[in-house]
Amino acid sequence: MIIIDGPAELCGEISIQGAKNSALPILAATVLCKGQSVLHNCPDLTDVETAVRILEHLGCRCAREGSDLVVDNAMTGCEVPQELMREMRSSIVFLGAIVSRCGEARLCFPGGCELGPRPIDLHISSLQKLGVEIEEKGGCLQCRAPGGIQGAYVSLSFPSVGATENLMLAAVCSKGTTIIANAAREPEIADLAAYLNRCGGRIYGAGESCVIIDGVKELFGSEHRMMPDRIVSATYMAAAAVTGGSVTLRDVDNAHILPMLSPFEESGCEVRQMGGSLNIMAPRRLMPVKHIRTMPYPGFPTDAQPVVMSMAAVGSGTSVFVENIFENRYRHAEGLQRLGAKIKVEGKVAIVEGVDRLAGAPVEAWDLRGGAALVVAGLAARGRTEIEGVEYIRRGYEDIAGNLALLGARIREAD
Ligand code: UD1
Repeated sequence: MIIIDGPAELCGEISIQGAKNSALPILAATVLCKGQSVLHNCPDLTDVETAVRILEHLGCRCAREGSDLVVDNAMTGCEVPQELMREMRSSIVFLGAIVSRCGEARLCFPGGCELGPRPIDLHISSLQKLGVEIEEKGGCLQCRAPGGIQGAYVSLSFPSVGATENLMLAAVCSKGTTIIANAAREPEIADLAAYLNRCGGRIYGAGESCVIIDGVKELFGSEHRMMPDRIVSATYMAAAAVTGGSVTLRDVDNAHILPMLSPFEESGCEVRQMGGSLNIMAPRRLMPVKHIRTMPYPGFPTDAQPVVMSMAAVGSGTSVFVENIFENRYRHAEGLQRLGAKIKVEGKVAIVEGVDRLAGAPVEAWDLRGGAALVVAGLAARGRTEIEGVEYIRRGYEDIAGNLALLGARIREAD
């Protein structure tokens, strides 16, 4: 559990880890690349460990050296066992990479955080368009591409991040050209393409809604530096905001922060962006964040909604949230209410009436970003907050307690 004795006033400087949502598809991409890849700024997280265990199961050798991860591709298998698939949802991106490399793949349905139903229909139907035969048997997927992967035109009915990545991974070593229309535009997609192109791929337009992939014969491992984690940046910004603090974040990509700036500005924080760092100075009392509508990039990200709700909980007025990406993404509201927040949830809408002060209490995390929201709220609350379910938070945050302690919070992890 994480124990916080609040309230804190955060002050100081920390550096931001590499992005989990870049690291996971890029680790899956190493399946396609002969030889060695050196991945710099690869965050040390339980989800990354799971991806490494999948790679090792497939026969690759992985070694961590500080924040670098070295992957030696010596693939011998094409099957991901059920227990690894169930550990995280993004393990599904291994499908496109394995079936392209081996001509077949066997994977079970993925697990992950409890955010409501998270279907993989778009992954399956779009891979089928590239000639992959997919059969479902007892909760597992048997995939084959007997004639190899064949480039095709694929139009996604929703710009799914995972489906776009899976398609890119399947198509990069294929015959012909693949066009993905209505592709997801998240920066992590461009990061994946940058790695693949460095390995010999020919992917154009990643990060825009039309991605063109000219299939190549083979890829060779290379060096790549993961982009900074924009959601982790938003989390520490929210932590600074609720504590009336002044915090500098190093190693951020300020362009990726822009779609998340409005609630910080609405609530009265002063955000100064300088090169690769950012400083946030919060007022004594936050104003409401007003209106947050989650959307695919470059809209406001669903992953930053929970931590911004913690800001709204202590704002001097009413804020409205509309969650458009996931059905069950307000479970943190229950924990926030236990700390004294006034939140009404109805379907995809949450209305938050800011209160003067939160009070520490025992709470439980149910998912990764919801857990981070409870940590942020715990920093603003008077007294002791004990957060259970830290295993969810460790999926995406490298030493959150250590970083917040560096900024002056009284926070520790305990068994
Ligand atoms: C990725 C991110 C996650 C983020 C999400 C949205 C990773 C490892 N995870 O998840 O942190 O919250 O993007 O920005 O990068 N959908 C379908 N059918 C499908 C696929 C998706 O209906 O086949 C729906 C999902 O249920 C969800 C929406 O599309 O409602 C968005 O999902 P998607 O963009 O695929 O998110 P993930 O790739 O799972």
